[in-house]
Amino acid sequence: MAAKLIKGAEVAAQIRAELKQEVEELKAKHNIVPGLVTILVGQDPGSVSYVTAKQKTSHELGFYSIQDNQEPDITEAALLALLDKYNKDPKIHGILVQLPLPKHIDSNKVLYGINPDKDVDAFHPVNVGRILIGNYAFLPCTPAGCQELIYRAYGDPKGKEVVVVGRSNIVGKPMVAIMIQKRVGANATVTCVHTGTPKDKMIEHCRRADILIVAAGVPNYIQADWVKEGVCVIDVGVNRIGMTESGKAKLAGDVDFAAVSEKASFITPVPGGVGPMTITMLMKNTVMAAKLAAGLVKL
Ligand code: GUN
Repeated sequence: MAAKLIKGAEVAAQIRAELKQEVEELKAKHNIVPGLVTILVGQDPGSVSYVTAKQKTSHELGFYSIQDNQEPDITEAALLALLDKYNKDPKIHGILVQLPLPKHIDSNKVLYGINPDKDVDAFHPVNVGRILIGNYAFLPCTPAGCQELIYRAYGDPKGKEVVVVGRSNIVGKPMVAIMIQKRVGANATVTCVHTGTPKDKMIEHCRRADILIVAAGVPNYIQADWVKEGVCVIDVGVNRIGMTESGKAKLAGDVDFAAVSEKASFITPVPGGVGPMTITMLMKNTVMAAKLAAGLVKL
């Protein structure tokens, strides 16, 4: 079987079109303009390119949007004071502090300093707890993007065997929490395998998967003989494996794409699969934060 490609950029464009319409309606009916601030400490080139893309998309959707650049030597106390200012600003509904932060700043302390109702990354422990309980406003952007891709391309995962490879706080753990929810787009039977899983068991679990979600951080880790015919594969990996002739980073996912796509029914490419969804889900969270602040949705 040659797998159908799940094209993240197309799905992301569709969701952005839906969001744009929702933003127009919020403005027309309720005089609400979603507000997002992205805070960047220092000038790490990767982080600069991420926040630039986030700002560009939020402007395209008609948000009130601020890029707040801070010097790399800002103190932790000054950064917390800045968060306090945005926590109190009624025009700002979503606050994002771009990671990683310089070593002299405790990232957890900073992330915990964001008002959970403005935490559009959904990294605050209050939001992590809300997600597990099933009463939440935001989902972390990358696993939420994976869920959207599965639902819109493959269909409802209800009752399916989902295997998640990796247990990071940003992807693996929230992915498990999302897929076990008693909701449309979830309701799956979920297994999480990780570095503590013996290799033979890892392969055994992967082979059972109807839907395999891989966030292992190891290029070309998942082999064709680890998957069953017809599996839907979501590859979250973005690994730099060299340079192209034109001097761009050459990327590989965590899945041996060429071989696995011969057996899978659906597969995400790298790049162009999960990647384009992440920023789109941040925009979705910001719209939700604006509705939450206005009392249009309740937790
Ligand atoms: N750095 C890399 N990815 C992310 C993300 O999703 N959110 C934040 N805040 N920083 C990041």
